[in-house]
Amino acid sequence: MPPTDPASPLHLTELGPLREAVAGWRRAGESIVLVPTMGALHPGHLALVAHAKAIGRRAVVSIFVNPTQFGPSEDFSRYPRDVAADLALLAGAGADAAWTPDVAAMYPQGFSTRIEVAGLGEGLCGAYRPGHFSGVATVVTKLLNQVRPDIALFGEKDFQQLQVIRRAVRDLDLAVEIRGVPTIREADGLALSSRNRYLGPEERLVAPRLQAVLARIAAALGEGAEAGRLLQEGIRELEAAGFNPVQYLELRDAETLERVERPVRPARLLAAAYLGRTRLIDNVAV
Ligand code: PAJ
Repeated sequence: MPPTDPASPLHLTELGPLREAVAGWRRAGESIVLVPTMGALHPGHLALVAHAKAIGRRAVVSIFVNPTQFGPSEDFSRYPRDVAADLALLAGAGADAAWTPDVAAMYPQGFSTRIEVAGLGEGLCGAYRPGHFSGVATVVTKLLNQVRPDIALFGEKDFQQLQVIRRAVRDLDLAVEIRGVPTIREADGLALSSRNRYLGPEERLVAPRLQAVLARIAAALGEGAEAGRLLQEGIRELEAAGFNPVQYLELRDAETLERVERPVRPARLLAAAYLGRTRLIDNVAV
């Protein structure tokens, strides 16, 4: 089912037509790369789409604001939604299909299965957002089964999410390769996020400090400094800048996400903090 206008992606809202489109590409021997998103697309998402087009023949972008990964007091209802704008951006990025299922199709009456990734999904953001990674792992598993891509791309921006998904895919023998894509940032260092649009002008000026603190600590750790004191100082510096609360600022093993004192193996410095009502996360390699 080729698109009538090669510049605009197929817009698929039902599972049957999605499977037909993908099956057609498969019959033609074309590789398929999936980029799962919740929409409100920004250049960080579009970098994933560009990467998908660079490594595969067909790029499918899913847009689904997944209710099961939001806590009861989180921003599900006010999460930005603008499918028309997203489709225009996807046309510009050369995506082949946009898959936009609705909640009733994704979670039909009686839906009762959840995927829990113990360990990896429990600390860091998992400690502050109970059920979040279970919601993510469940919906991503469904998206992978719906599209059946060769490769699926995820941003390092959500580093714990990337590792949780890698683990679930390995544990469940899902026949897909998971790849991470580096974080896209604003000129001042702030990681692009759909939630940045919640920031007021003053908050927006403070927000890049999160990345600045991470970068400085990562550099010091690279020179052999001990983590404990640097992390304490980093938390105080973020609080002084106006982040409240700082939920965590931690050094973790990059693969297992276990806490480490010094980066002997590849490590990751990860942080989550509120600026006003907006929760920001970021991480850097060490
Ligand atoms: P969402 O926040 O829309 O992000 C979709 C993808 O874009 C994720 O893989 C995320 O890591 C990546 N991304 C976001 N900002 C980025 C940036 N600045 N640089 C690079 N990549 C970035 O993450 C989700 O949606 C959902 O949890 C999802 C995986 C779709 C499951 O519902």
